[in-house]
Amino acid sequence: RLELRCERGGAELRLDAHPTLSVSRAALLPPPGGPGDAGGQELPVESRPFASYGSALHIALPQAPRAGQLLTLLIDYEAGEGPGVCWLSPEQTAGKQKPYMYTQGQAVLNRSFFPCFDTPSVKFTYSATVKVPEGFTAVMSATSWEKQKDNTFVFKMSQPIPSYLIALVVGDIVSADVGPRSRVWAEPCLIEAAKKEYDGVIEEFLVVGEKLFGPYVWGRYDILFMPPSFPFGGMENPCLTFVTPCLLAGDRSLVDVIIHEISHSWFGNLVTNATWGEFWLNEGFTMYAQRRISTEVYGLPYTCLEAATGRALLRQHMDATGEDHPLNRLRVVIEPGFCLFLGVNPDDTYNETPYEKGYCFVSYLAHLVGNQSKFDAFLQAYVNRFKFQSITADDTLGFFLEYFPELKEKGVDSIPGFEFDRWLNTPGWPPYLPDLSPGQQLMRPADELAELWAADGLNMEAIEAVDITGWRTYQLVYFLDQVLQKSPLPEGNVQRLSKMYPKISKAQNAELRLRWCQIVLKNNLEAEYSKVKDFLHSQGKQKYTLPLYRAMWGGSEATRALAMETFSATAPQLHVNVQNYVKKILGLGSAE
Ligand code: BES
Ligand code: ZN
Repeated sequence: RLELRCERGGAELRLDAHPTLSVSRAALLPPPGGPGDAGGQELPVESRPFASYGSALHIALPQAPRAGQLLTLLIDYEAGEGPGVCWLSPEQTAGKQKPYMYTQGQAVLNRSFFPCFDTPSVKFTYSATVKVPEGFTAVMSATSWEKQKDNTFVFKMSQPIPSYLIALVVGDIVSADVGPRSRVWAEPCLIEAAKKEYDGVIEEFLVVGEKLFGPYVWGRYDILFMPPSFPFGGMENPCLTFVTPCLLAGDRSLVDVIIHEISHSWFGNLVTNATWGEFWLNEGFTMYAQRRISTEVYGLPYTCLEAATGRALLRQHMDATGEDHPLNRLRVVIEPGFCLFLGVNPDDTYNETPYEKGYCFVSYLAHLVGNQSKFDAFLQAYVNRFKFQSITADDTLGFFLEYFPELKEKGVDSIPGFEFDRWLNTPGWPPYLPDLSPGQQLMRPADELAELWAADGLNMEAIEAVDITGWRTYQLVYFLDQVLQKSPLPEGNVQRLSKMYPKISKAQNAELRLRWCQIVLKNNLEAEYSKVKDFLHSQGKQKYTLPLYRAMWGGSEATRALAMETFSATAPQLHVNVQNYVKKILGLGSAE
């Protein structure tokens, strides 16, 4: 049931939908209180092709509504087979007992879940009544929920949000409190580990976030641990962040993902990019906010170290795609199209550029201001100015110059080489990089150790003098990124490294496993290929899966065979989008 207010237009309503949605009836309900048939007036409805990622539902209204007129539409439909709604068999869950379903809306997948204006430029409240089978629980991204009789759950989101933030999970899940406004949700077999991972730490992030960016408006902040095939590290569904179970490292070492998703509570969920072409407004500001919170909680050196691993990811991404690739602009041109070669699917723009180049641009704005607390105050004013709205980079930058008139006067938007227009529209490496040298104390030992391991004829004495037992996960990650960059290492070095540091080569931590697998592949360490296979069997996160398939496909005949074998065994467990990206890498040509 859609309650709409006419802004403009004629006698046809067009909604986003998907070929897998089957609409059986559309009707216009009489205005509340007035006379008319309670079942409503049936309307002609037709699904027409729109793009490779969805279709258009054309609904004919009896007459063109007046501007400002309220309309209530009832649409009967079935959904289920589309890319936004994922059905997992019991074997694909942690407990392996019961099936599981979840939805993932971002960027343009929710049109296969319900017909709507599937654009981040439109915000609305929603409510949902969800009936599930005995033994299952439903949760949604909603500000309130209530369990009624007959396994029926009623949800209400009372703040306006864009369509991509509506999310539903149905599964055998339970919850445990981890803070005054936070609980974790997980399958019963994971709930203890989930509680242990984040008990007592979430509230501090929220409090610091509120201090920096203003009130947290969403009521609760809960975290749901998803099955291993969930394609993202985290997804900022309001009130209920979804995360990969890979975060259950046992030592809170991957908590930066939680801080990131919490940061979206202000940047993304309150102030939203109006189009997916400016996705960096969500992610670049969120990366900046994440690192501000991290700096307050964990200090500058650690945060700079984490940011340096982000910069390494940007380097790898730009090396892989070419700096001049059109997706390496902050503002991306998105056009609907019917196949992979015509138009750009918003979901295909998910890469490191909006995150890390976006982070550099926001850091550059802070650098122009030159004073952290003034820039923090700007961010808070920005959230307050645009909360519950959807905006473009022009709005952001216009507000920045308005907020700092002295900078506007100086013409900071057109400093040669650093023009705002260049930041937005020119692909390539960021013209400004924030200073990460406060992280040197943590990075230098890792740089030096990587140097030692890359040498011909290893200096074992020097290597053994370095004790890595006390290193934080991100220090090890940084070290491995340096080793990877220097790979292939001289013959035999990686074998010795593997023996010397079981803490790395036998790690259970997903970020370490990813890097170790990349090193194994780049050095053709056949003895450890099974680790690549095991890691890809154990989870389906896109940012882990695609780099490994790229490395395997770009490697030897043996690694190509490994890729094919692994993909044919794991494909059914992967999210369909991830499946299609892997097919593209392996030259398997997806159905499109
Ligand atoms: N909103 C994104 C995930 C996303 C992006 C889903 C685009 C669908 C389309 C989420 O906030 C995110 O960025 N997650 C990162 C976390 C990391 C940057 C700390 C991830 O999943 O890796
Ligand atoms: Zn994000």
